[in-house]
Amino acid sequence: MWGIVAAAGSGSRFGGRKQEATLDGRPLWEWARDALLDGGAAQVVVVGAEGGVPGGAQRRDSVAAGLAEVPAGADLIAVHDAARPLASARLVRALTEALRTEGAQGAVPALPIADTVKQIKGNLVVATPDRAALAAAQTPQVFQAAALREAHARYPGPATDDAAMVEALGGRVVTVPGERAALKITFPEDLATARAWLEGRR
Ligand code: CTP
Ligand code: MG
Repeated sequence: MWGIVAAAGSGSRFGGRKQEATLDGRPLWEWARDALLDGGAAQVVVVGAEGGVPGGAQRRDSVAAGLAEVPAGADLIAVHDAARPLASARLVRALTEALRTEGAQGAVPALPIADTVKQIKGNLVVATPDRAALAAAQTPQVFQAAALREAHARYPGPATDDAAMVEALGGRVVTVPGERAALKITFPEDLATARAWLEGRR
């Protein structure tokens, strides 16, 4: 298994390059890289951080830049966001295990949704989908290397995660229980939440 950490992007909602923000003295992208290494990745390509492979305009372009560095011999590829520094190595192993036992093309962490979700058009509510049938997807996401490569080669549209592209081509993607501590650092206050999670661990 190889890993890819998506660590490019401008952090417009955060107000700057959050991938270089530090948690316990280490940049977010290092936390993400180390979770993959500790979770069983042989090597990890970091895209878009200082000293890493250059990123692309959209997240999917950055992941593609990472994919280009992964050797053909890799069987599995774990894709992770630098913006989720506290996802655990145990989660990576659970994903790898699910992929194997379920014979799936992809495995993603998923959390139940606490809010009621509305489908909207402008400010108008169009529908209220059944929350019990929805889940919030996180990273890391682990894929059969061939399925991930095919998705990146053949799926043309925009995508906010890699699983969406694999699913769109008919690949089977399974879920494992996500981690609340693996929240995505999107806004500045999310970093304070991550610090609180870390503090709680001690
Ligand atoms: N990412 C990336 N390349 C991009 C955009 C995003 O590698 N062109 C990465 C980010 O570093 C992050 C993850 O994808 O780890 C999720 O993206 P997001 O949270 O949206 O980060 P940004 O795009 O930088 O933030 P924003 O959307 O607020 O500008
Ligand atoms: Mg973004």
